[in-house]
Parts: sequence; C-alpha cells; structure tokens
Amino acid sequence: MRPGTLQLPALPPLSLYVHLPWCLKKCPYCDFNSHEMSRGELPEQRYLDALRADLEAALPLVWGRQVHSIFIGGGTPSLFTPEGIERLVSDVRARLQLVPDCEITLEANPGTFERDRFKAFRAAGITRLSVGVQSFDDAKLRALGRVHDSRQAVAALEEAAASFETFNLDLMYALPGQTLAELEADVTQALALAPPHLSIYHLTIEPNTYFAKFPPVIPPDDLAYAMLDRLTEMTGAAGMERYEVSAYAKPGHRCWHNFNYWTFGDYLGIGAGAHSKLSFPHRVVRQVRKREPKLYMDGALAGAAIAQDEDVARTELPFEFMLNALRLKDGFALQDFSDRTGLPLSAIEQALREAEGKGLIERDLARVKPTGRGFDFLSDLQALFLP
Ligand SMILES: C[S@@+](CC[C@H](N)C(=O)[O-])C[C@H]1O[C@@H](n2cnc3c(N)ncnc32)[C@H](O)[C@@H]1O
Ligand code: SF4
Repeated sequence: MRPGTLQLPALPPLSLYVHLPWCLKKCPYCDFNSHEMSRGELPEQRYLDALRADLEAALPLVWGRQVHSIFIGGGTPSLFTPEGIERLVSDVRARLQLVPDCEITLEANPGTFERDRFKAFRAAGITRLSVGVQSFDDAKLRALGRVHDSRQAVAALEEAAASFETFNLDLMYALPGQTLAELEADVTQALALAPPHLSIYHLTIEPNTYFAKFPPVIPPDDLAYAMLDRLTEMTGAAGMERYEVSAYAKPGHRCWHNFNYWTFGDYLGIGAGAHSKLSFPHRVVRQVRKREPKLYMDGALAGAAIAQDEDVARTELPFEFMLNALRLKDGFALQDFSDRTGLPLSAIEQALREAEGKGLIERDLARVKPTGRGFDFLSDLQALFLP
C-alpha cells in the first residue's frame, strides 16, 4: 500500500456496481458505455468469465468489508439470460460478504422479450428492477429512437409490479417538441402504475452523441423549469418524496445504492468502463476499467482490466463530496464530510459561508442542506466548492 496524506477515522459503506455494456440499438441521446450487439448476439459466457476474473483481482482492495448493495447497470442488462444473471449473482456471493438485506438492482428495458424474463430475474436473486421507459408517448419514443412502444412499457411495468416488491421507473422530460400538457400526460400515466420509485431526468444533449451532431428542437429553459415544478407537484400529490434532484420515492423505497453514491460511500465497479471509488485509512482511490468491451474482456481475463488508477487529490475531495451530497434534499451531516474525506471542516468553511450568504444552503451545528433556491441552482452551488 502506498502511503497517503489523509486521516480517515473509518471506512464508509461499500457497494458493488456491475456494468453490462450491450444494447439492441444505440439511442441517439445516450453517452453511456453501451454498444450495439453484433448480429443480435452478445458473448455472455466470456463476459461473465471476465467479470469473475475482474472481481477476483479486486478482492484485496475490499478485504473483510461487507457489501450493502449491488447495481447491475448498462447498457441493457436485461439482454442477459436469467441463467447468466444467476451465475453473476452467485459468483459475487461466493466472493464477497453481502449484508442479509442486500439490495440487488437490475436495469431492464421494457421490450416484450425482456418482460418475459422478469420473474426469472427475481428467482435469480435480483431484488429490485429499474425499468427505462423514458416516455409513454409513442411519437416521443420514436423521436428518442427507442425500440419499445408505450403499450409494451405499460405491460412491462405491470409485470415488474407483479414480480418485485420494489422497482424504479425512469422517465425523461424536456423531450424534443414536448409541451407541458404532454409532460403531464406522461407523469399521469407513470403515476397510474404506482411505481415505488421514479427517476426523472432532464434530457441532456451530450457531446459525441447523434443528437449533438443533429440537435432536435427541445423546450426552452423556462418551459423546462415549469415542467420540473409541475412534476414535483404531481409526484408530491401522489405521496412520493423528491429526496434527490432526480429521484422520487414512496416511504421506504429510496434506492440504497444511489443513496450511497450521493453520501460519498465507496463502490467497487467491475465490467467495461466501470468506475470505482474506494477508501483506505490514508487515501481515496479512483479506478476506471477498460471501456471497449472486447479490450475489457481480453484485459480482465489476463489480469489487466484497469485503465486508470489514481488517488483523489486532497484539493479535489471537497468538490467531489459536495457534487454528490448537495443533490440530496436533506443534505449531509458535517461529521460525514470529515469521516469520508479525512479533511477538517475548515476545508469547506469559507465556501459554506458564501453559499449561506447567497441563500443556497441552510445549516445548523450538525447538518448542511440545500435551500429550495440551492436545489434550483445546484450547479452554481456545487461550483462554490471547486478547488
Ligand atoms: C444507463 S441508462 C440505462 C437504462 C436502459 N438501458 C434504458 O435506456 O432504458 C439509465 C437512464 O439514464 C437516462 N438517460 C440516458 N441518457 C440520458 C440523457 N442524455 N439525458 C437524460 N437522461 C438520460 C435514461 O432515463 C435511462 O433510463
Ligand atoms: S438502451 Fe439505454 S443504455 Fe442502451 S443506448 Fe439506449 S439509453 Fe443508452
């Protein structure tokens, strides 16, 4: 172990992220590490072998620690067979100590082919499904290049509700040509399906995507703000709390895995392009796995899955912490800042004072939380903590 300059009194909770990088078709807005399957096939067994080798090589970094949640994300993980997912879960269970109520989420697309597998995913040990619907409007789904339609989405969510005690529904808003009435119709349909958890993302035009090259006409900022107000109202009236900028949950249904990211917990990420953040008594480390699936598989099977491995600099830790913690409606405990960065509170005192002066946060002796205004101008608030 290299020496470091931090003093972490204890290590935070640990999660596992597993990336499965294939999709039927690449969506024009998506900048995730996802790749179209070639000739409708994906190398399931070889990829699972690579994940197992990757995990084994990483074990010394997390020796003796319990794992509180697993998130199998993508890409479209539901393209893997239930047998493949079962093997993945048992490979993980054989090598890591999971807490008894470990949350195990799988991302699924709402096609018919995937829906037929939901029960088998539950039997394979998945406890929570996250279904990427995006919209219930067929014209919008076509504009987004999605391969499913609204009818399939409704059927998939009904199946998710029948097979799982808890699930998430992903929507996007500020879609090409979307009106406030169309957004209301999408949210009304989503709420009618009574999801325990909703994630609602503002569609962003990401660099290096098809939409960046050929931009669609999207709603202006003031309309997008009005949409956000409306959907916060509608979800609130349905008994869902907006506990994070993009996340809404019924009581008892927050996503433990994402909550751990937002509270600057630790995560080991395995799979193509996966990111890890791991704490040690004197340093915090970030790792990135090789991004291209074939290079990743070859690398992992030869004991070389990692593309980048570096300590997070002391000067960057306050911003990294705030980038996550200020996304939460309830903010963070000051003690967690010191425990998880190993830095004294004096490292953020000046920025906290400035944020308070601008009405962007509220604080007492124990906690800091964003005000309504801080939530609306989150990137300005986060920027105050830049090194
Ligand atoms: C990693 S994707 C995977 C989920 C699944 N493959 C799907 O597309 O349904 C997770 C979620 O990120 C959101 N997302 C992806 N690209 C986005 C973008 N450019 N702007 C906003 N949200 C986006 C979508 O809501 C999507 O469901
Ligand atoms: S299906 Fe999901 S992960 Fe795949 S390209 Fe579309 S948005 Fe990205």
